Amino acid sequence: MRIEVLSLIISLFSATAFAQNIQSPDGKLSLSIGLTGDGEPTYQLSFRGRQILQKSRLGLELKDQPAFNKGFTIVKTDTSQTDETWAPVWGEVKQIRNHYKELVVTLQQVAHKNRRMIIRYRLFNDGLGFRYEIPEQNDLKYFIVSDEKTEFNLTGDHKTFWIPGDYDTNEYAYSTTKLSEIDATGRKAAQEIAFKTPIAANAIQTPLMMRTSDGLYINIHEAALVNYAAMNLMVNRQTFGLLSHLVPDAVGNKSYMQAPDKTPWRTIVVSDKAADILASKLILNLNEPSKIRDVSWIKPQKYVGIWWEMHVGKASWSYADASNIKLAETDWASLKPHGKHGATTANTKLYIDFASKHHFDGVLVEGWNVGWEDWFGNWKEVVFDFVTPYPDFDVTELHKYASEKGVKLIMHHETSASVSNYERRMDEAYRFMKQHGYDAVKTGYVGKIIPRGEHHDGQWMVNHYVRVAEKTAQHKIMIDVHEPVRPTGLHRSYPNWLACEAARGNEFNAWSSGNPPEHETILPFTRLMGGPMDYTPGIFQIKLDAYQAGKKEQVQTTLAKQLALYVTMYSPLQMAADLPENYERFIDAFQFIKEVAVDWDDTRILEAEPGDYLTIARKAKNKDEWYIGAITDEQARTVNIPLTYLTPKRSYLAILYTDAANAHWKSNPMAYQIQNFLVNDRTTLKIALASGGGAAISLRPAAAEDMKWKRYENSR
Ligand code: NOJ
Ligand code: CA
Repeated sequence: MRIEVLSLIISLFSATAFAQNIQSPDGKLSLSIGLTGDGEPTYQLSFRGRQILQKSRLGLELKDQPAFNKGFTIVKTDTSQTDETWAPVWGEVKQIRNHYKELVVTLQQVAHKNRRMIIRYRLFNDGLGFRYEIPEQNDLKYFIVSDEKTEFNLTGDHKTFWIPGDYDTNEYAYSTTKLSEIDATGRKAAQEIAFKTPIAANAIQTPLMMRTSDGLYINIHEAALVNYAAMNLMVNRQTFGLLSHLVPDAVGNKSYMQAPDKTPWRTIVVSDKAADILASKLILNLNEPSKIRDVSWIKPQKYVGIWWEMHVGKASWSYADASNIKLAETDWASLKPHGKHGATTANTKLYIDFASKHHFDGVLVEGWNVGWEDWFGNWKEVVFDFVTPYPDFDVTELHKYASEKGVKLIMHHETSASVSNYERRMDEAYRFMKQHGYDAVKTGYVGKIIPRGEHHDGQWMVNHYVRVAEKTAQHKIMIDVHEPVRPTGLHRSYPNWLACEAARGNEFNAWSSGNPPEHETILPFTRLMGGPMDYTPGIFQIKLDAYQAGKKEQVQTTLAKQLALYVTMYSPLQMAADLPENYERFIDAFQFIKEVAVDWDDTRILEAEPGDYLTIARKAKNKDEWYIGAITDEQARTVNIPLTYLTPKRSYLAILYTDAANAHWKSNPMAYQIQNFLVNDRTTLKIALASGGGAAISLRPAAAEDMKWKRYENSR
């Protein structure tokens, strides 16, 4: 429903003294736009009368062209309102309301052949989105954006959860500082990342999460990043202004455009409650509806895989000890295997058996294809061909075996960032997958991009990721992308794009200084704002000296917290990342991973504070089952969890997977307890979380045989 409310025609309005306001549908947010005396477009935003953004300038800089951020007059402004509801193919909730006021400002440069630009603002109850549009016109057809000049002028020295600005990676640990204290070249900037291109000491990435001293929460990101470079932010550490900085291409340009064209949306989500930031659907609402018509083959799922054993050093991706490999000239069958290869037919069968026994959908196998002997660090174009298995991996036999057991193999395409090579081989690779029964692929982009000089987050790669989403959709293949640009809600348009990594995943705990206990309390407020993450939770053998005497790394968690992550770290694709033998050792705790849903009718963010704690309850799709996850940082805490959302007057069995009284992420991480209780909608659970700990709870209507369990006493 779209109601044209107002259409103002102000032809050749003088460059000064213009302002217009709109309010969000609930009146809480107020946007005011205008022009400076130099004809620079501006906007400002406030929440319940408190300023979020002071007057901030807007515009683009075009290569070899007059500036496109000043000398404008306003030709007209149009406002309208939209209120509609749509159903995602999969997600955290069954239905999403898209409710906003829109303000469309048409600008014109009289001095420059009347070149035109439109700024489209959408003001929701939970924030603002805006983008630049370049309409079709005679004197601006092809042009190069040399930078974007979008300002976000904040009103104070806010507490900020940030990672360094970088053209190639998001795999940094978070820092929490005031804006004035940001130093992206500091200690955390340089940790153990395969390949990185930091920008400057004052450059940071989005999604950027902030908290003001008077308790407002502000999140800045973008939506629908298509055919444009990703945005980093340059921080003015004195004035607290942020300025957009786009990722350049190999020759230093930012984005190539052709009118009519548009930029991605710039988004600012605002609330006085942190939980509202997590519940926001603003970024999804700004993305386009599904471009895939038949979505019947798209399936949220859980998987296990030949993966963690490589990361902890128990097995390897490679088959032989060889170097200096030339793919086309190598006779793989004649290489002498070193004996540690993980992706063997026999080992894959063990994982298939395990997946089948415990009702997992998929088995990921990494290291199945030739080339891993010499895959990283040489900036080589031809490393993998994606269709040639190692001699000890029988793809036909495994297809048959997996089908008999009702399990799907998940393909792995590590491109080693040689994207030109991948582009040439994609069609053949996807045909090979379908021939052998695969309908999901995990891709990866570890290393320096080829075409050489391009970056992971530049326009060329942004287009590549979308091309992969489109092409896999044509083949009815679901994707999970590692090392891409961070997501911006495109999974609404491409629902086969189940998940991305694009952040520091659990794997870092296996071979680096790892992820501190606060990490998983920050990710939902930052990286996950743009879409689901393949975080790979579920590590039960937490201290890694179990694999190698003296190995000092550990996952910085308790075991119960690993369970909670299946609820707090939303994804329609969840891995049970540990080895089958570790799950067999703690089979009672594994029950939660087996049962937890991956697709939801409803989500309640019960409490949240970035960097500190998070409790979420979710209702499984089409079932009267709820799953709750609560996590904390290094501070132990007691959490009260109301169950008011349960069907009234119905008795439920609650299974509580909690930290044992003496659990602690460092000194005693694997101590947990499991308790069963009868509960109802008036119950409030009171649960102790250990330092670095968490709790997971499953709830289902009590059956006759559950009546033996005690009622949970609220006074406990
Ligand atoms: C990095 C990915 O994040 C990880 O999951 C994968 O195992 C390795 N690359 C090898 O492709
Ligand atoms: Ca990675």
